[in-house]
Amino acid sequence: AQSVTQPDVHVTVSEGAPLELRCNYSSSVSLYLFWYVRYPNQGLQLLLKYTSGNSLVPGMKGFKAEFRKNETSFHLKKPSAHWSD
Ligand SMILES: *[C@@H]1O[C@H](CO)[C@@H](O)[C@H](O)[C@H]1NC(C)=O
Ligand SMILES: *[C@@H]1O[C@H](CO)[C@@H](O)[C@H](O)[C@H]1NC(C)=O
Repeated sequence: AQSVTQPDVHVTVSEGAPLELRCNYSSSVSLYLFWYVRYPNQGLQLLLKYTSGNSLVPGMKGFKAEFRKNETSFHLKKPSAHWSD
């Protein structure tokens, strides 16, 4: 996207609770949206990407994100957070 905003600076989630990291995008052209994770002392790892098709995008380690054009959002979710997330 041309710009992305993560409105929450920090998110604290209990072990086993649902996790959501919000992301809004802004773009006037075709959308390619990516979520990456970076664990301590490691490089960026791709979790998932949206290019076209099904708006609910499954990713690694139980993460998923839903492309919502009506909200210009692509929030990352996981039903049950694990400490290592
Ligand atoms: C946007 O669309 C999604 C999926 O269709 C729906 O679940 C959500 O309620 C909609 N949001 C608004 C603000 O209408
Ligand atoms: C960001 O996404 C939320 C839905 O989670 C939506 O209600 C809101 O309008 C969006 N904000 C902006 C600035 O696009």
